[in-house]
Amino acid sequence: MSRSAHPAGPRHADVMTEGHYTAPPADLNALDAKVWARTVTRDENGAVTVGGIEVTRLAEEFGTPAYFLDESDFRARCRAWADAFGRDADVFYAGKAFLSRAVVRWLKEEGLNLDVCSGGELTCALDAGMPAERIAFHGNNKTVGEIERAVTVGVGRIVLDSFQEIARVAHIAQRLGKRQRVQIRVTVGVEAHTHEFIATAHEDQKFGIALAGGQAAEAVRRALTLDGLELIGIHSHIGSQIFDMAGFEVSARRVVQLLAEVRDEHGVELPEIDLGGGLGIAYTSEDDPREPHEIAKALGDIVTRECEAAGLATPRISVEPGRAIVGPTAFTLYEVGTIKPLEGLRTYVSVDGGMSDNIRTALYDAEYSVALASRTSDAEPMLVRVVGKHCESGDIVVKDAFLPSDLAPSDLIAVPATGAYCRSMASNYNHALRPPVVAVRDGEARVIVRRETEEDLLRLDVG
Ligand code: LLP
Repeated sequence: MSRSAHPAGPRHADVMTEGHYTAPPADLNALDAKVWARTVTRDENGAVTVGGIEVTRLAEEFGTPAYFLDESDFRARCRAWADAFGRDADVFYAGKAFLSRAVVRWLKEEGLNLDVCSGGELTCALDAGMPAERIAFHGNNKTVGEIERAVTVGVGRIVLDSFQEIARVAHIAQRLGKRQRVQIRVTVGVEAHTHEFIATAHEDQKFGIALAGGQAAEAVRRALTLDGLELIGIHSHIGSQIFDMAGFEVSARRVVQLLAEVRDEHGVELPEIDLGGGLGIAYTSEDDPREPHEIAKALGDIVTRECEAAGLATPRISVEPGRAIVGPTAFTLYEVGTIKPLEGLRTYVSVDGGMSDNIRTALYDAEYSVALASRTSDAEPMLVRVVGKHCESGDIVVKDAFLPSDLAPSDLIAVPATGAYCRSMASNYNHALRPPVVAVRDGEARVIVRRETEEDLLRLDVG
């Protein structure tokens, strides 16, 4: 249903919300497969189930708020990406989206590689047994300690982000008697986000080394002369939640152009290019993400075409999806606490979590969907705003959505597509206890990240 159009709601007047018309979906009990994890459905009692387990049982056993992650969906998405890209390409899961030891084991078993961007993520990856050579280490300001550890354990690649870092990594590798495989992250002059494609002001950012003005070429020049470095390729990441492949096309073209310049100047054909992550997912029914095989084909075609035109052998491609793998696999389950109808406006539904378990709505104006999960209802739809329990009016989880008007305290509601950047960006604001992540698979549920306790909070407070 388009928010910008004025769709005719079946039995209800449309509601004007912040300049958009919103109409209720035809069936409030329906679960759109686009936004819910693959095994999510309703059972004969009307309760939402995941992996065959009712949310009512899950809430009893694990409490709320909690993230429930569909493990078989996660694994299926890993396989879909690995199969789509095939043997001539590498898929690096971006751990920043959500990382835990169980996730690392799943990635390892499903044949994916892992991109980490901090010492903490590196520790988690190594601790759970990811082979160092399957790890890529990113970041615009890695500490000397982080670099020393990454080089010592032998990570497969370090993605260099600045001139200082080129020298720093080279120096550390040499001191440790190693030759570190590296890529150089370039800014290609494109920044893409959902539905938009910005070709200005992109160089004004902290990541990477600009292609413009020959800076990236100079970075390659320096990297090629340093004994501690083995330059294996060029890296580019153009944004987040992207549906339109046009940005990747420009990015690939510009990276290949640099490879051709490097060949002309140094007689070296760099063997790899990494096109980053950023592929979009459906948060609401209005989003239409691409499937991994479509993405793989589009990127492969672009790179092959550009390389042919430049007379280069096609390099090995890598990609770094985070959100596209884990995002759709989880939902957050909340218990409704209070319901406050505001005459002529909307109804505020307060849940037992909020911006501490999902900062994305407050931070990025992100859109989410929501469903009554503990039961079905035939009551009329009501326009709601799902808000948290924090002392802040921006503490919004779902800005505009419809829930049945017989919603009552202690009903369970679920917000889908919260697998990426929700637990990983969760906070202890108001001394909130960060929720657990529970993996569900084939009728079994198991905590993979436990709920924080008040003792956890006090343990850090050593004053
Ligand atoms: N590779 C690099 C170099 C990245 O910087 C990122 C994300 C990724 C891969 C993975 O991107 P993904 O496929 O997950 O979109 N907190 C924001 C997203 C920040 C993304 C940062 N970099 C959010 O919640 O939307």
